[in-house]
Amino acid sequence: MRTQVAIVGAGPAGLLLGHLLHRAGIDSVIVERHDRRHAEERIRAGVLEQGTVDTLDEAGVGERMHREGLPHDGIELLFDGTRHRIDLKALSGGRSIRVYGQHEVVKDLIAARLESGRPLIFEATDVALHGLDGRTPSLTFAVDGEERRIDCDYVAGCDGFHGVSRGAVPDGVLKVFERVYPFAWLGILADAAPSLDELVYANHPSGFALFSMRSDKVTRLYLQCEPDEDLAAWSDARIWDELHERLACDDGWTPNEGPILQRGVTPMRSFVAEPMRHGRLFLAGDAAHIVPPTGAKGMNLAVADVRVLAQALAAHYGGLGDEKLAAYSTTCLRRVWRAEHYSWWMTSMLHRFRDNTPFMDRLQRSELDYVTSSEAGGRMLAENYVGLPFGD
Ligand code: FAD
Ligand code: DHB
Repeated sequence: MRTQVAIVGAGPAGLLLGHLLHRAGIDSVIVERHDRRHAEERIRAGVLEQGTVDTLDEAGVGERMHREGLPHDGIELLFDGTRHRIDLKALSGGRSIRVYGQHEVVKDLIAARLESGRPLIFEATDVALHGLDGRTPSLTFAVDGEERRIDCDYVAGCDGFHGVSRGAVPDGVLKVFERVYPFAWLGILADAAPSLDELVYANHPSGFALFSMRSDKVTRLYLQCEPDEDLAAWSDARIWDELHERLACDDGWTPNEGPILQRGVTPMRSFVAEPMRHGRLFLAGDAAHIVPPTGAKGMNLAVADVRVLAQALAAHYGGLGDEKLAAYSTTCLRRVWRAEHYSWWMTSMLHRFRDNTPFMDRLQRSELDYVTSSEAGGRMLAENYVGLPFGD
């Protein structure tokens, strides 16, 4: 089999890249390790930046996102029992976010891919990348025990943090920057109507908590926990008690309870591998970088990467030269590092660290006070939260 671009991974990065390339008349094959159901049901991120919404719109896959996604013009920061609203829209010059689950984006993109008729191969095992330094790279893998090979011009490594693409770069080429946090998030999805129509990020002496949602019937909630937290130790009652305690407000607001539909623990890590290109391989999304989820940036960065990559490949195949391909890593890393800093900053401001001294506690409080009372402080938070414009 031959194609122009072989894409490893059918997460948001791989699927959107395939779709943007299709719209530019460029052929691709997407190879995914899991089955379709797994891809469509994996609960992960939920906040789409303005630029992500615009990108999905421009790509013609935004119809359901507009119908079912929830527009949000603000978020709330809760500390010392009081909620403080950050007016994202007013503070960012009219930009805002939309709450729409990552798995819904993935469903829309899989539907678009199937409609395009271009190949999307699920349940591929033993995926391996070859010849990245030369002019004729290829992918090999197996489906139902049968060996397959795809020859291509370029490989897009969109296979997430635990994928094989990054590891296919020879030792010593990538420079890795990493920070592992001493906590994780215990996330639940509850069959309960959200009791507020904005997200609440809470800094509480017992740890961080986040109130979010997926629809007008489903609430999404997170609790800071130990990195190796044993889910079995968390009964439903313990989860709700902890949520009510950490999200307690002077005005009596609290999340609605309901049956817990799904639960999981997400480790927290900052990670960047530079450069995001090696020979004919381009890394995109979590394959190249990870942020702690506090700033809601992970999926948005994946979308931004493939937007840049699709434009660069379109220029290449359209006879407009390889300047954009040459600049891919530098272009993406500028945005990546802004999001790395922002996600680290939000994480540091909102979580309890084991070694927090009273001095550090006061600094956290002062920072929260500043961003919720100073327009300049609020603008910094808002501009980053809604996402910086692409400028392409
Ligand atoms: P992924 O979504 O990871 O997609 C990679 C795809 O590649 C997957 O489908 C995988 O099966 C496939 N793959 C992997 N290895 C191979 C292989 N060898 N061969 C073929 N295919 C392969 N971000 C937020 O902003 N908020 C959140 O609440 C949040 N929660 C998260 C919870 C978890 C458990 C995780 C892991 C991440 C979370 N993130 C969150 C981050 C966000 O979901 C990611 O940034 C986003 O999924 C990145 O998209 P991606 O396409 O780059 O990678
Ligand atoms: C959600 C996840 C986040 O990481 C975040 O910052 C806000 C919302 C969510 O899953 O809804």
